[in-house]
Amino acid sequence: MLLENLSLLFFKNYEEASLAFSEHINCFIGNNGSGKTNLLDAIYYLSMTKSAFPGTEAQSIKQGEDFFMVKGRFLVGSEKHTVQVSLKQGQKKMVTHNKALYEKMSEHIGRFPVVLISPYDTDLIREGSEERRKYFDSLISQLNHVYLEQLIQYSYVLKQRNSLLKQFAERHYYDRDYLHILNEQLVPFGEDLAREREKFLQEFVPIFQKHYHHISGSSEAVTLTYKSQLPGADFAQLLHQAERRDLALQRTTVGPHKDDFVFLMDGNPVKNFGSQGQQKSYVIALKLAHFEVMAARHHHKPLLLLDDIFDRLDEKRITQLMQMVAAHTFGQIFLTDTHLERTDKILEGLSESIRRFEVKEGQVKVIGEL
Ligand SMILES: Nc1ncnc2c1ncn2[C@@H]1O[C@H](COP(=O)(O)OP(=O)(O)OP(=O)(O)O)[C@@H](O)[C@H]1O
Ligand SMILES: [Mg+2]
Repeated sequence: MLLENLSLLFFKNYEEASLAFSEHINCFIGNNGSGKTNLLDAIYYLSMTKSAFPGTEAQSIKQGEDFFMVKGRFLVGSEKHTVQVSLKQGQKKMVTHNKALYEKMSEHIGRFPVVLISPYDTDLIREGSEERRKYFDSLISQLNHVYLEQLIQYSYVLKQRNSLLKQFAERHYYDRDYLHILNEQLVPFGEDLAREREKFLQEFVPIFQKHYHHISGSSEAVTLTYKSQLPGADFAQLLHQAERRDLALQRTTVGPHKDDFVFLMDGNPVKNFGSQGQQKSYVIALKLAHFEVMAARHHHKPLLLLDDIFDRLDEKRITQLMQMVAAHTFGQIFLTDTHLERTDKILEGLSESIRRFEVKEGQVKVIGEL
């Protein structure tokens, strides 16, 4: 799968931009704040219909303007697919595929897969369980559309259940039957989500471990485990047991929305135990495994977006990564860096076609093919 071109209108710090890409390696070179990460985010939008970074959608509209548009053409085999994402201030976001509007964004997500490796990845280690759930839910959803539908349904019923619990407290009444109807709806979705998460990790962890050892060259034992009350338990029973507590706290206190994914190194939490370098290797290995499972499932390689990767890795790790590039582990790559000479030096000797773009205050131009 290739992204042949990209055009932007009033996207973040870009007024207008139009880029045609190399099928192998594309480098965005520029100073801090010039708009390199914004270009990766525009590509991310085409795949995921949303930004890779926190913030409101409207923040992607260039300051002082009232809409943005991101458009790109993918090539899958010999088929061309034009995807456009646009948002007008105060209106609903629109995503089209070959000019046809999607009814549901979920139909699009996962169709043109992308993997982003970014400086923010270590947040997955540092932040709370919600970040990790979001990350794995998004990954599993892209591999499995049924999971995505179940997740949407589960969240919908959970929201209803929580607002019912609130109503009980506010209005001093208790409609047990209604609560139990919602329990019955929640249970099958919850059990399926937990089962899928568990199954996914069985496949994912060995791949992750392989990448960790390759990228770090070190021998500490890394793993990640699924922390949940659910697999093997009766969710209906758990809800029943938690009912008093749920009523008191006015929210649902058991279920897959409380699960966590625990990152471990030699049996200890990576967050407290891993050095900065080990933490970086941990999340990069996570993303490389992410790439590998997506490539296997989709039968074509996701686009790989590498944000500031050379800044964050030592020479040994960069060499390992470049060996993977040389071995054609990846398909099309988009990377950012602040130094042209450093990029050229690292990519020197690769047989892939490389296109470099100079990014300067929201303007991009091709520097020239290598
Ligand atoms: N909606 C917006 N309107 C105008 N400018 C914006 C908008 N959103 C972000 N920007 C600006 O875009 C600029 C470029 O951001 P970007 O993160 O792409 O820089 P970068 O080249 O990746 O820099 P660094 O090397 O520091 O990572 C930032 O200065 C930011 O303030
Ligand atoms: Mg950046």
